[in-house]
Amino acid sequence: MLSGAKNSALKLLAASLLTDEPCTIRRVPHITDIATMVAMLRALGADVEYAGDQLRVHAGAALSGCAPYELVRTMRASIIVMGPLVARLGEATIAMPGGCNIGPRRIDFHIRGLEKLGATIEIDHGFIKIHSTQLKAAVVPLDYPSVGATENLVMAATATDGETVIENAAREPEIVDLCDFLRGMGAVIEGAGTATIRIEGGHALHGVDHEVVADRIEAGTYLIMGAATGGEVTTLGLDPLHLELFLGKLRGMGVDVRVGDRSITVRREGPLAPIDISTLPHPGFATDLQAQTMVLLSLAEGTSIVTENVFENRFVVVDELNRLGAGISTSGHHAVVEGPRALSGSVVEAPDLRGGAALVTAGLVADGATDIGALHHIDRGYEDLVGKLAALGADVARVDERPRTGEGPRPSLSSCDDETLRSAPAGACGGGA
Ligand code: EPZ
Repeated sequence: MLSGAKNSALKLLAASLLTDEPCTIRRVPHITDIATMVAMLRALGADVEYAGDQLRVHAGAALSGCAPYELVRTMRASIIVMGPLVARLGEATIAMPGGCNIGPRRIDFHIRGLEKLGATIEIDHGFIKIHSTQLKAAVVPLDYPSVGATENLVMAATATDGETVIENAAREPEIVDLCDFLRGMGAVIEGAGTATIRIEGGHALHGVDHEVVADRIEAGTYLIMGAATGGEVTTLGLDPLHLELFLGKLRGMGVDVRVGDRSITVRREGPLAPIDISTLPHPGFATDLQAQTMVLLSLAEGTSIVTENVFENRFVVVDELNRLGAGISTSGHHAVVEGPRALSGSVVEAPDLRGGAALVTAGLVADGATDIGALHHIDRGYEDLVGKLAALGADVARVDERPRTGEGPRPSLSSCDDETLRSAPAGACGGGA
């Protein structure tokens, strides 16, 4: 069974700041990014309680508007508290998020959009200081369908004095989930999931009880693992429409894909065909599945071209994949993936969340064991990865840090108090995630 979507749950937690009544969020994944957001909400003065996979958030009267640097540095998605804070309190001080290794991660669309809504914003000593006595309804055209900017602006617009229209809005399923959550709080929103979202501000928002949408990126990751190992994998809980174009690409590679109301099953027995991939905002091919897909393309019988259009630097994992035997060359936004390649296990290190997932995928296919370090990246976004993989038939385990094979001792990762994930070639992955 899939977990709740990381990239929705984080925003629902932020949206809970919009009311002084308690909100219950169900199917929250136990991952470190959620823990960081919980710490952020508590730093802002909200009460947050865990109960299994439920979180209860009560942002009462003692709410402050200052998001500390060490939390924003830990997770740049923390800037998603900007919109709710300026809507609820009329002010917010948020540390400027750093970049990360997939790109500079600018926030100019967020800033310009909030200024369109009447907020005054200054950046001072690395902090964004936002102030607004009354947010004003406006038409806000986004230069690019930014997920985070759309979310910040939708949440801020719930406090404007009329109807705000966001044009060229992001259309991801996580945006729809956020708008469903806000409507459950009493907000009046139309057009979620389309490029034009209308928000009628001025409605007092109340508490809500909401289940997070299933994680389509987790689903796509496990489906790729099933196709890569020549097994059969079923994911449960996700509307297949959330992965429509991605599933079409799997079919184009020769993977057998069957869908039910909330189930997706992949099976692969024959050879994989090469195929070209271009990442785009939803409903285009998800950039968060790009690295994992490159592993699959490395097994295909021919050359594939992967074009990364969303982030500036999202081929970081290529060098590590090539150490496992892949044949990928990159130039700017393009990667040329040669196949079929025989992958062989080695000692590698996760460079980021989805790059780490790609290395796990490669480890499941490679000949011999693969040790993957810097697991803190993977733990940010995959709940119970080892348990779910083991249930699928994978030979995988977390092993504590010890001298690593390969080129002699590698620098200790003790600073990340990481363990190491060791995965060996799976038999055919079978069962359901
Ligand atoms: C969200 O990031 C997701 N993160 C990302 O998932 C996902 O890859 C991305 O959307 C695209 O789908 C969360 O939801 C927490 P964007 P976000 O704003 O909101 C540029 C994962 O692996 N941009 O749509 O940051 C930006 O630099 C993560 O789960 C500006 O230039 O994505 C990037 O190149 C990784 N100015 C592009 O737009 C801005 O003000 C897409 O960014 C904002 C963004």
